[in-house]
Amino acid sequence: MEKDIEKVLVSEDEIASICDKIAQQINEDYKNSGRPLVLICILKGSIMFTSELMKRITLPLELDFMKVSSYGSGTSTTGVINIHLDIKRTDIADVDFIVIEDIIDSGRTLSHLIKYFTEKGASSVRTATLLDKPSRRTVDFKPDYFGKVIPDEFVVGFGLDYNEKYRNLPYVGILKREVYEK
Ligand code: IMP
Ligand code: MG
Repeated sequence: MEKDIEKVLVSEDEIASICDKIAQQINEDYKNSGRPLVLICILKGSIMFTSELMKRITLPLELDFMKVSSYGSGTSTTGVINIHLDIKRTDIADVDFIVIEDIIDSGRTLSHLIKYFTEKGASSVRTATLLDKPSRRTVDFKPDYFGKVIPDEFVVGFGLDYNEKYRNLPYVGILKREVYEK
């Protein structure tokens, strides 16, 4: 795997301090809410970020999962959002949701999900992402919590994949172009 990585973009140490910082903000922002806090992990890319983040959140919370897709098997988005798995929780009113993503690219996935939960009557919906590629936006969207802004490069590791591989790398790295431009 390592041989396919051009450069490490976010090291394990940097990821840990990003998680510390975002969890601290969340602990502060929700300490007086009085409503259930539900983290929504967007499968599969966000599992590592969600688990590192939730370890650091000191408030009571629930965890739920969604599986959505905007990408096919390649490295560019198709623009269509499909919900393959929805959250288990049916009581959605009076709940604070934080949707957790690995990376924001076009912005379509998260802006679609915010609309989805708002229309279902959630009290609040915020978004947290480890990585952000603002130069790739096709819809106007800003996350509430973000770790690191990165350039327009295809990255893998710490949950992020290329054709389902590289998710288990403990850091985020730029994938060599020769791996996907064959
Ligand atoms: P958006 O709807 O275009 O913002 O799509 C975000 C989704 O695209 C993320 O959840 C990832 O699954 C995928 N994605 C975007 N950029 C990358 C990348 O550089 N590496 C791996 N997956 C990516
Ligand atoms: Mg994803």
